[in-house]
Amino acid sequence: MKRNIRLILLGAPGAGKGTQAEKISAEFGIPAISTGAIIREAIASGTEMGKSAQSYIERGALVPDEVVIGIVKDRLAAPDCAGGFILDGFPRTVPQAQALDEMGVEITDVLSIEVSDERIIDRMGGRRVCKKCGATYHVTSNPSPAGDKCGVCGDPLTIRADDDPAVVRSRLEVYHSQTEPLKDFYAKKGILKVVEGQEKLEDTTALTFRALG
Ligand code: AP5
Repeated sequence: MKRNIRLILLGAPGAGKGTQAEKISAEFGIPAISTGAIIREAIASGTEMGKSAQSYIERGALVPDEVVIGIVKDRLAAPDCAGGFILDGFPRTVPQAQALDEMGVEITDVLSIEVSDERIIDRMGGRRVCKKCGATYHVTSNPSPAGDKCGVCGDPLTIRADDDPAVVRSRLEVYHSQTEPLKDFYAKKGILKVVEGQEKLEDTTALTFRALG
């Protein structure tokens, strides 16, 4: 029987968290919860939360802790999280990690996907996403089988606004100053494992599954 995995994926923007979250979700039948995707959906549908978050996302800054903590608290209360879940992009600050502890959520695994800043800047230029279903591709390492359309739903692929190189650089700075300290936070709890991101996506997937045991 598969164990109840309550996993956090850490890693810089573009390290491959969303890509690996999709694979783990399919293998273990547990939901992948991306705070970035939830915020982008709120922006697209023009909700109050979306309107207030938009300027943070556009400049590569973090949305305020209380907003994302509220999002995650509500999402984890949904019935589909009872058998486990993957958090992709949360927590991103020490106060967010402390809030998770205060909610009484027991995390079983934390995987940090490590990729150098130089490779990330290279990679982000080739990312293509489907706004409709959320599928992610890369023009060379993970092309859509449908060319410039989504291989899942057929919608045209787009470039994320925050993949502009100047915004990517800001996101990397934010990652190093505010999110990287979480590696220590979870190492002290004895649940941190490091996955070295590989050139080939399937090689990173193999290391990810090995780390999950
Ligand atoms: P979010 O959407 O979470 O973005 P991110 O963490 O910056 O990460 P990305 O989605 O950009 O990258 P990823 O690691 O998932 O990589 P991917 O798999 O796509 O957050 C966006 C914004 O929302 C934040 O800046 C912030 O403003 C806000 N936000 C979200 N959560 C928040 C929080 N908790 N607190 C405050 N604010 C928050 O892969 C990247 C590309 O590389 C793809 O093209 C992929 O195909 C390719 N690729 C992946 N793996 C490989 C590989 N091994 N080899 C080659 N190519 C690969």
